[in-house]
Amino acid sequence: MLRIAVCVSGGGTNLQAIIDAIGSGKISNTEIVRVISNKKDAYALTRAAENGIGAVCVSRKDFPDKESFNDALIQAVDEAQPDLVVLAGFLVVLPEKMIQKYRRRIINIHPSLIPSFCGNGFYGLKVHEAALARGVKITGATVHFVDEGTDTGPIIKQKAVEVREGDTPEILQKRVMEQAEWQILPETIDEIANGELLIGMERKH
Ligand code: GRF
Repeated sequence: MLRIAVCVSGGGTNLQAIIDAIGSGKISNTEIVRVISNKKDAYALTRAAENGIGAVCVSRKDFPDKESFNDALIQAVDEAQPDLVVLAGFLVVLPEKMIQKYRRRIINIHPSLIPSFCGNGFYGLKVHEAALARGVKITGATVHFVDEGTDTGPIIKQKAVEVREGDTPEILQKRVMEQAEWQILPETIDEIANGELLIGMERKH
């Protein structure tokens, strides 16, 4: 059974997609062992509670400095003893110590086709605003391993979504979520849970 901890900051629609996929069997052999939010008012916490999933909030406001916040975040993850950490709309720069400790065991969903519209400052609606401003005809979403950079880790899965005439950032975001994010994140988790995608340190030859 793959133990996953899901880190969230907002609405939790990607968390919901994972919950629904486990419920329908699209994801097998997997258990969400903890939801971790950095925002006390994240609706994702309500989704966790409604589905009987243990959740904790680690808010930067509750700590005197970044270091103690980082330590609390790592502790919240460690306590859950996850095999895999899933960043699902998590708007926190992970501490290097965590990335090293969970090398190739942290994945992120980003709402564009990396390397387009990613990196510092590209999150949420801003990603879709940039795509519309550039006039791309195709955008999409990417699942990637998390490394020390921002949206720079090895790409695992991508799915393209068409941009339509008259799209607003909100309309485009919804299409990318429905047609890409909510598909490729559960697919990736299921592949990891069933050994089709290996995680953790690559075996040295
Ligand atoms: C959305 O912009 C989504 O594209 C990205 O994070 C944001 C919030 O997602 N992955 P969620 O609804 O909290 O999962």
